[in-house]
Amino acid sequence: MRIVTRASELGGASGTRAVVMTMGALHEGHLALVRHAQSIAAEVLVTVFVNPLQFDDPGDLEHYPRTLEADAALLEEEGVDVLYAPALEDVYPGGTPIVTVSAGAINDVFEGAARPGHFDGVLTVVLKLMNLTRPDVAVFGAKDAQQVIAVRTMTRDLNVPVEIAVAPTVRDHDGLARSSRNVFLSATERDDALALSRALRAADAAADSGATVTEALLAGSEELARVPAAQVEYFAALDPSSAHPVPGDYRGEVVIAVAARVGKTRLIDNVSTRIGHSS
Ligand code: PAF
Repeated sequence: MRIVTRASELGGASGTRAVVMTMGALHEGHLALVRHAQSIAAEVLVTVFVNPLQFDDPGDLEHYPRTLEADAALLEEEGVDVLYAPALEDVYPGGTPIVTVSAGAINDVFEGAARPGHFDGVLTVVLKLMNLTRPDVAVFGAKDAQQVIAVRTMTRDLNVPVEIAVAPTVRDHDGLARSSRNVFLSATERDDALALSRALRAADAAADSGATVTEALLAGSEELARVPAAQVEYFAALDPSSAHPVPGDYRGEVVIAVAARVGKTRLIDNVSTRIGHSS
């Protein structure tokens, strides 16, 4: 594996290049993205860059886990071709950028509303990393559903010639979605955090048996209510193309998404399901 810290040393790919963008602290979820990338491209390039622009809380940025040596070892073992781990100046040579990408109305709902400026920061760095690494395809995780919607919308609206591929969420045996933030959970908090995936499973099962949006959300809410330690910020059904909430009588594909604080840790998770088509 080539480890590169400057974009000028990246060079072109010999065949199809897939990029997996990360902020490091790699876990099984990221490795699943890498494997997905390897299954669709000749060369896989992973970026590790903690992007200050997407943090609305300076404390969160400061405490974000940074484990580059361990990340590099995992990627090497996984057979990644190139690791691009730039310094701040390589990505933002002019300091804080004057021109940035706006996620538009995606900022108004759910993660966008909870974290002002977050998606503008994500899209700005994603576009910059695409320009720096010149991939044919970029692989993102389904766990960050609203991020996927924002990135797809950006590539469509700004004619960015990069295909977007999505890899499924990786879960622990008991259903907890893998996240870099899980390391902050105590054993009790980890148990409480299972309420999120249980709620999503309940909503999904209800949808599968013909429930409306309102009924599916009610089924999930009952699971969440059993665990008051999981302080729910939202539990909602999103339109998968706009990230906006769907009405209670909506029929079709939805993303059921949840965000909750467990102790000091904010967790998100989601499931894609279909409303109005019982199996
Ligand atoms: O999903 C993430 O880890 C980040 O938002 C990303 C896409 C690497 C941009 O910094």
